[in-house]
Amino acid sequence: MLVYGCEAGRDSRDAGNRLTRMSQRSRNLPRRSCLSTPGSSDRFLAKAPTTVADMTFLDLEDSVAPNEKVAARAKVVQAIRSQDWGERVLCVRVNAWDTAWTYGDVIEVVGNAGERLDEVMLPKVQSAAEVVALDLLLSQVERNAGLPAGHIGIEAQIETARGLINVDEICAASPRLETIIFGPADFAASIEMPVLTGGVAIPEYPGDHFNYVFSRILMAGRANGLQVIDGPFLKVRELDALREFAQRTRLLGYDGKWALTPDQALVLNELYSPTQEQFDRAWDILEAYRVATEENHAGAVMFGDEMIDEASRKMALKFVSRGERAGLSRSAT
Ligand code: GLV
Ligand code: MG
Repeated sequence: MLVYGCEAGRDSRDAGNRLTRMSQRSRNLPRRSCLSTPGSSDRFLAKAPTTVADMTFLDLEDSVAPNEKVAARAKVVQAIRSQDWGERVLCVRVNAWDTAWTYGDVIEVVGNAGERLDEVMLPKVQSAAEVVALDLLLSQVERNAGLPAGHIGIEAQIETARGLINVDEICAASPRLETIIFGPADFAASIEMPVLTGGVAIPEYPGDHFNYVFSRILMAGRANGLQVIDGPFLKVRELDALREFAQRTRLLGYDGKWALTPDQALVLNELYSPTQEQFDRAWDILEAYRVATEENHAGAVMFGDEMIDEASRKMALKFVSRGERAGLSRSAT
């Protein structure tokens, strides 16, 4: 595992034993909706900051044609530097390590984008070594660009059978990692699932065909303190179907999902936030449990018709922090 010290002017990598989380600005920001924006399209790049998406990634990978890849880098840099991105998480998806473009994407974009760029997304991650390679490259690019050491975070996509097999090591590979993401379209191709549309329901399948994958990625992400994100839903005009399908990862506990359009982002912001009722109930549980333990010295207590204890407090805290991240505040009592 890479470990960092931050002394100015010295190698920021330190083979000591201190693990410091990096890229602090964006690590805990909400990512209920993560908007994909093709990096070669002036029109989409101009529109991206006007959407309600919590996070936006400017894409150099699969939504950009091979003969536009190199030219798109400068467009992405220009968009990052010249537009007002507000508070949203701002990310660039580079091409995967098995192409000719990854190092050039990182050097040109991270080297010129300035401090507003929060993260780089690495697609089709197959092993921890791929994350480590990106981490090392970022360290050098940050130094040469005058960025603070560890400024750029990493989002890693799991989209192949090998990536899923190695997901535990991948999630632990770098203190820059902020999220782990499922990529259903490439994943379906990788495992040779007989579907032609990625990330949608398969009505003939008895159950949820991705339940194992969703759960596997969630465990690895949570065990390493990462946000866990579901990928795209390709039927972009079917918002009700999106709402229905996204319940699968929302109910498991995912933090958010990709949006391919601003309308999808609207749906996802609502879906991946606790309701006001859940948020208020979570606060009530915390309050009842505090009174029980601190004032009445009881470890378990009745809350309405249900017994609550320390585990209930932990569940309630998750609702409160997720609700606060989504901008909720407790209703007046
Ligand atoms: C996303 O990148 C996917 O392949 O689904
Ligand atoms: Mg993909």
